[in-house]
Amino acid sequence: MTNQTECTKGTLALPPVALKTLLGGLSVREFLAEYWQKKPLLVRQAVPGFQGLVSRDELFALARDADVESRLVRCQNGQWSVQHGPQQKKSLQVRNAPVPWTVLVQGLNLWRDNADRLLRHFSFIPYARLDDLMVSYAVNGGGVGPHFDDYDVFLLQGIGRRRWQIANQSDRTVLKDAPLKILKDFRPVHDWVLETGDLLYLPPHWAHNGIAIGECMTYSVGFRSPSFDELGREFLYWMAERQSLPGIYADPGLKVQKRPARIDEAMVGKIAQVLANIRWQRSDVAAFLGEYLSEPKPQIFFEPPENPPAPEDFARQVQAHGVRLHRKCLMLWTPAAIYLNGEELDCDALSGTERELLTRFADTRILPPTACSPALLELLYGMLTDGFLAESDEDSAEQ
Ligand code: SIN
Ligand code: CO
Repeated sequence: MTNQTECTKGTLALPPVALKTLLGGLSVREFLAEYWQKKPLLVRQAVPGFQGLVSRDELFALARDADVESRLVRCQNGQWSVQHGPQQKKSLQVRNAPVPWTVLVQGLNLWRDNADRLLRHFSFIPYARLDDLMVSYAVNGGGVGPHFDDYDVFLLQGIGRRRWQIANQSDRTVLKDAPLKILKDFRPVHDWVLETGDLLYLPPHWAHNGIAIGECMTYSVGFRSPSFDELGREFLYWMAERQSLPGIYADPGLKVQKRPARIDEAMVGKIAQVLANIRWQRSDVAAFLGEYLSEPKPQIFFEPPENPPAPEDFARQVQAHGVRLHRKCLMLWTPAAIYLNGEELDCDALSGTERELLTRFADTRILPPTACSPALLELLYGMLTDGFLAESDEDSAEQ
């Protein structure tokens, strides 16, 4: 990881974002009822004064970092190509680009505080559904081609302009042999040019094609839509680690068999009966979701502080300033438990009020100035030494 990747603040300031302006004058209730997962919404000047969150050079530095997920997409004479990161300096040629290209960096919110802050403005959708903030840069004519996504997306235009064509077509046939999903027959029904600060919301499966008009950068807030296949598979792995079926197979009543290779019906029946005893409760499903959905992506690592304060000093800091969750953390809760980065927090020694405080910490990601009981201090101090708390020189928890 380069220093530039870990330069955490982001060079461009995010202007104040008003939820009502972001949603084009709609209340969250109206947006959810009329648009969410139903139909697109174009909002002109959703974020007035927006200038983007990173410069082009910063974005290129991220794309060249092996810890950061990136893709470079080119199209030459109708032939698409995708290069996964880390990108080469020579591939990111801006002037006189021989073919239109775009580079996309996933998870900007993991690397920049201002990107995390922008993402949190979308917390009217539960965190369990929120995925990440992606940023793309494209030279004139660049884009990823007409395609559809399985998830909802908010596309916020950064610097420059992008033409968006969108379609609600049932024909989702994609080009054969292309390295990315490009629609074979794209029939747009809307055609808009988005300027800096404009926002386009698209529900899953709305086909779209974004073409850069001159140099442009686009920020995409993407959501998680795990398939039932994924959830089922992961739940069964999770259950396997918690399930115990006592006893071993026995067959004292074994009968003479002429065909020794055959798995006989008696064996199948007995084992089917044992397996039918595998049961789970709703509470298992909730605990699985808490752990699974709060698990950071595999490339995410936390850096414990080099010189953590002594616990007594830390307690004074918490009492005076509170703490903030590190932007890489995922913290979720159910009425029964609180989950942080794939694990249930041990809250047994906490009071009901302290647990409630932690659920609010998960919601707002800020713990206000608090006098800690020994149990709460131990838990928070563990979070500090695991690198799960934002450093105190980043924006204060009191903001
Ligand atoms: C882009 O930023 O070019 C791609 C965003 C998308 O189509 O989902
Ligand atoms: Co898309």
